[in-house]
Amino acid sequence: MLGLGSYLPERVLTNAELEARRELDTTDEWIVRRTGIRERHLAAEHEATSDLATRAAQACLADAGVAPAELDLIIVATVTPDMPFPATACLVQSKLGADETAGYDLLLGCTGFVSALATGAQFIQTGALRRVLVIGADTLSRVTDWTDRSTCVLFGDGAGAVLLGPGEPGEGLLSFAMSNNGAAADLLTLPAGGSRLRVTPEAAAAHLDCIRMEGRELFRLAVEGIPAAAQDAMRRADVAPADIDLMVMHQANIRIIDAAAQRLAFEPEKVAVTIDAHGNTSAASMPLALDELRRQGRLSPGDTILLVGFGAGFALAAAVLRW
Ligand code: ACO
Repeated sequence: MLGLGSYLPERVLTNAELEARRELDTTDEWIVRRTGIRERHLAAEHEATSDLATRAAQACLADAGVAPAELDLIIVATVTPDMPFPATACLVQSKLGADETAGYDLLLGCTGFVSALATGAQFIQTGALRRVLVIGADTLSRVTDWTDRSTCVLFGDGAGAVLLGPGEPGEGLLSFAMSNNGAAADLLTLPAGGSRLRVTPEAAAAHLDCIRMEGRELFRLAVEGIPAAAQDAMRRADVAPADIDLMVMHQANIRIIDAAAQRLAFEPEKVAVTIDAHGNTSAASMPLALDELRRQGRLSPGDTILLVGFGAGFALAAAVLRW
């Protein structure tokens, strides 16, 4: 882990503003009690995912003291690319001025960052590449149905990035555990805009170009799946729960975080919570949380960190890192 950086758009949308929209019929009290979210950041009109990703990447490269030209590969985990093609990684490469650096997108929703990290680390571990930039970036506000109170209160925009490079044995990514349950794919979808269904006027009128979610069932899958994935990754890294200094889960709901932490018997001080200020930022949530925790002085070199991502798919990915 050579560097870390993140970016949150300036505009903050508070629960009070959502409550003020009478047609939503929601309250700050409901949102805080059921989700833990108080506010979230929204991209400006002129900002798309490649812009957020580029800002996070620039912060990360500055942190590492590495020039864009030194990069070998850029992986962008996102489900909200600027457009289906070209890959967001190509746009980021150009904006960074990382001449000729290779790159591609990884599309796995909220689980994308951990899977991108595991992917990027393979190139380092085999010695094939020396500088791999892994970015998690999403602009969910653009695919949110702002008339649906069961989803629109949840999501926010942002980006986070880490730079991977060769290290000593026992540093960096120690293990990962990934699994998908495609039979549950219908629980969280963006129905229109792919090869199954075009965004026709009818589809748009029915909000099929926005996120559709069966929250209750996803909640259940997450609370069961997170501890299992975490234990799998810890076993593969040969570390015990007591060895973990910090657990960073995808930030989807404070009740999911609390329930999973409780099942793993992790003390609250070890568990990252940024959902109150960021909402659910999909692939960005874990690198954003890592950067925030480092700012708070809760992330230090040598720390053993457990990451667990989950979301659309239904996909799960956990990793153990030594920072
Ligand atoms: N304000 C007020 N009331 C609301 C709101 C709101 N914003 N949203 C829903 N309600 C109501 C519902 O209509 C329902 O009313 P009813 O009982 O009269 O029918 C009641 O609250 C309870 O609804 P539930 O859906 O049971 O609420 P729940 O406590 O499950 O919370 C939530 C919903 C927050 C969506 C939760 O289920 C959740 O977080 N699920 C997991 C989401 C997740 O993990 N997603 C995967 C990652 S996201 C990704 O990959 C992009």
